[in-house]
Amino acid sequence: MNILMAVSEAVPFAKTGGLADAVSALSLSLAKQGHTVKIVLPRYYHINRDTLRHLEGEMGVPMGGREEWSAVYAAALPGSAKKNPVEVYFIDHEQFFGRDGIYGVPSEPDFMDNPRRFTFFCRAVFQLCRKIRWYPDVFHAHDWPAALVPVFLKYRERGAPFEYAVSVLTIHNLGYQGIYHKDNFSYTNLDWSVFYSAGFDDWNMMNLLKAGLNSADKLNTVSPHYAWETQTSQHGFRLDGVLRSRSADYTGILNGIDTNIWNPKKDASIPRRYSAKDMAGKGAAKEALQKEFGLPLAPDVPVIGMVTRLTEQKGVGEVFGPAYGCAWSLCRDMDIQMVLLGSGEPWCENEVKSLSRRLSNFKAHIGYAEKESHLIEAGSDFFLMPSRYEPCGLNQMYSLAYGTLPIVRNTGGLADTVQNFNQETGEGTGFMFDDLTPLAIYNTVGWAVWAYYNRRDQIEAMRAAGMKENFSWDKSAKKYLEMYETALAVVHSR
Ligand code: ADP
Ligand code: GLC
Repeated sequence: MNILMAVSEAVPFAKTGGLADAVSALSLSLAKQGHTVKIVLPRYYHINRDTLRHLEGEMGVPMGGREEWSAVYAAALPGSAKKNPVEVYFIDHEQFFGRDGIYGVPSEPDFMDNPRRFTFFCRAVFQLCRKIRWYPDVFHAHDWPAALVPVFLKYRERGAPFEYAVSVLTIHNLGYQGIYHKDNFSYTNLDWSVFYSAGFDDWNMMNLLKAGLNSADKLNTVSPHYAWETQTSQHGFRLDGVLRSRSADYTGILNGIDTNIWNPKKDASIPRRYSAKDMAGKGAAKEALQKEFGLPLAPDVPVIGMVTRLTEQKGVGEVFGPAYGCAWSLCRDMDIQMVLLGSGEPWCENEVKSLSRRLSNFKAHIGYAEKESHLIEAGSDFFLMPSRYEPCGLNQMYSLAYGTLPIVRNTGGLADTVQNFNQETGEGTGFMFDDLTPLAIYNTVGWAVWAYYNRRDQIEAMRAAGMKENFSWDKSAKKYLEMYETALAVVHSR
């Protein structure tokens, strides 16, 4: 099968969150199974052109009644097999992407011209296929920045050479939909009737994700539980009705993890590698972690780690909210250490820095640091993810692989990947709570800490159970293939 991934992030080229990990790992896994996969990304300013291959000639992209000209670059996705590499194509356009930031910068978190930038990008995807004379069976778009790909396929590119192509749209996060003033619709060059027939309209605004969800042949999100939740008004971000109306074509497919990168047996970012059979390296990682964050070296005190974007979605208000968050009481009342790596909303960064100064057993690093995130996964005893909602979540799976017990809210992909501790039987792989309140987080961390000090055997058994789980992408990639095939069967039977 020929599969094109249209996406705004893919590791190692551009990443703000798990989307980037998921797309690259899925692509590698599909290629490993013999399919031809190409990823299309914008050439953001930070991606050095000198490291890429330039494709000869300019490419014209019709937009808003005129042609935008762009250059195209390419590179093989690192980790690809020589025989069947995943090619990444970069759409280079100075005016739209020649600046710092993927979606925005701190002073302008959502660039004013994002509707134009990503409309252009989605349209360019089709021009690229023509340019390289490669015509995919499946256009697989991810999240709102690529959501116009299914729309263009349905309303603009239905004829040759794309008449047998299908589109799939994956929701990685329903909280971001790309809602902009409807004047921006003119950049699509689509007839105004499509504004209504594709369902762009959203209270007199233009909703890119909504139009994509209405137009794609198949839809999915990144865990079965989140697929169910998003069809309820509580988690549907006002699109639950759209998703319910498409429920026959909508599924949940759990993300995997890249077991070459996130694997304590192979990890070069930790002092000593380890496995379920020989856990000595985990102790070494804990010591290195305590050193790195300036915590007292205490092998017997449980360390609770966090690596997260500091945004509402991640439940950081309930942990770090001034006056009401539970972090202060947790660190004051319990014999624990806490480490955090993250960046995000300014109020939260400030609060975390202030706690870090005032508490001797809470230390935080603000910023983005790949290597340190590995050390936290390996060196912590517990990993806290009190998410308000979590489409899948990768860190809890990394934690399980590293023998670090997740403490998570019972929602989305967290509910699908973590089994709650049963202190009667000793079964489970982590600790869960239902309500998103500072008290519930406090109590559940307290429960985990109690087990650490009083049920050591059960803790070790849980670590071993988590490390045995298989979160490799190959299983999930097969489910994507099934989804592609069902969509293709419909088109071919027309
Ligand atoms: P989301 O995509 O919603 O942020 P995920 O759990 O799916 O959540 O993925 C987050 C990814 O980003 C993980 O790979 C995590 O390790 C990484 N990450 C988040 N914040 C940081 C940070 N400050 N430094 C390093 N890695 C980070
Ligand atoms: C989003 C979600 C996260 C998911 C990731 C990859 O960023 O917030 O839960 O794991 O996408 O699919």
